[in-house]
Amino acid sequence: MRHNPYGSYEILRADGPFVPGPHDTHLVTRHREAQAIMQDARWSHAEEPELLHGDSDVELPGSFLWMEPPEHTRLRGLVGKAFTARTISGMRERAEQLTGDLLDKILAQGEVDLLDALAYPLPLTMVCELLGVPEEAHEHVRTMSTGIARGLDPDVLLSPDELAARTTAVHAFLEFFGDLVDRRRAEPRADLITALVQADDAGAGLTRTELLGTLLILVVAGHETTVNLIGNGVLALIRHPEEFQRLRSFPELAEPAVDEVLRYDAPVHLTTRTAHDEITVGERTFAPGDAVIVLLASANRDPLAFPDADRFDIARYARGSRPERHLSFGLGLHYCLGAPLARLEMSVVLRALASRVESMTLLEEPPYRPNVVVRGMSQLRVRMEPR
Ligand code: HEM
Repeated sequence: MRHNPYGSYEILRADGPFVPGPHDTHLVTRHREAQAIMQDARWSHAEEPELLHGDSDVELPGSFLWMEPPEHTRLRGLVGKAFTARTISGMRERAEQLTGDLLDKILAQGEVDLLDALAYPLPLTMVCELLGVPEEAHEHVRTMSTGIARGLDPDVLLSPDELAARTTAVHAFLEFFGDLVDRRRAEPRADLITALVQADDAGAGLTRTELLGTLLILVVAGHETTVNLIGNGVLALIRHPEEFQRLRSFPELAEPAVDEVLRYDAPVHLTTRTAHDEITVGERTFAPGDAVIVLLASANRDPLAFPDADRFDIARYARGSRPERHLSFGLGLHYCLGAPLARLEMSVVLRALASRVESMTLLEEPPYRPNVVVRGMSQLRVRMEPR
């Protein structure tokens, strides 16, 4: 079902908002219940159910994605400054320039793997430049990050080889970024790694593990997800040529279209929560310690929340309409820190496609990576005709 899980989600939703999942968990299938859980701080993200991070032999350095206040507040606050809407909008020009250059090459070639040609390099370069990773190391970062992203899946789904590959990738990551942190401490630059090192020196009390954990989540969450957003968006426009024509006629639909792509084909399919308390959601009461797997991508297609939920409509989120919010960036305490950056990159891509591309054709059915949490294609072979 990896290339199309939505039929299975529909069957699960029909069974009710909570469906028994693996290892005594419950799958949360519908929008209302998923939203209620994500918004409620009594549901913790700190205690991962054992099934997700079982007995693997490598500790992912703690990142605030898996912490609770006050640690979460302290660490998120340190990076939060780099992600204000103002700072991010200052990155638009760079995103436009990069997208323009990549599109020049794509249109000159005609037929490409769009993931390799655009969806990977754009977010990778943006996040690497934000952090201050030297250009010659960007590919190395991509390899490590891909290995770690697969490791975000529940351990029970990973083969011994995949677990070993994750261990190797995490060690390589710690070594590479450990070294970069030392270099920035010795020679500060205008980048986010230097800012974090300086915050630490100024008394923020950031341990080395916390610093590396923060960098890890920024690289992996900031890059693997956006790759899929771009890939999924291009695929949706190819499969719905009338929507691509609409975008070309009304390029101002690029921004609402970003949210529709996020809703229609979410880059992150699920997350988990553990009850800290006795909590009632809808008609069900959970006991402390109960774990749920929130199917964000299923909630986004819930017909109880979205009229015509399976329809791809780039104007669904246009100004004046008041659709339910999609859950693709999560909600509540852990709401995606990088959402403004991801939105910016995708809207730049959509505007560039609208203004420069005449038509897009799929050359073959795209294969999917085995990843479950961060779901996406492994290749997207397309032909693009210039306008
Ligand atoms: C389309 C792109 C993206 C998607 C779909 C996405 C999705 C998500 C989701 C679903 C969560 C919440 C997980 C949970 O509550 O369990 C999250 C959190 C997070 N995301 Fe994103 N993300 C994207 C891009 C980015 C980017 C570009 C960055 C940074 C450069 C980023 C950094 C983070 C961080 C740091 C968190 C943890 C926030 C916290 O725990 O307070 N993400 N993201």
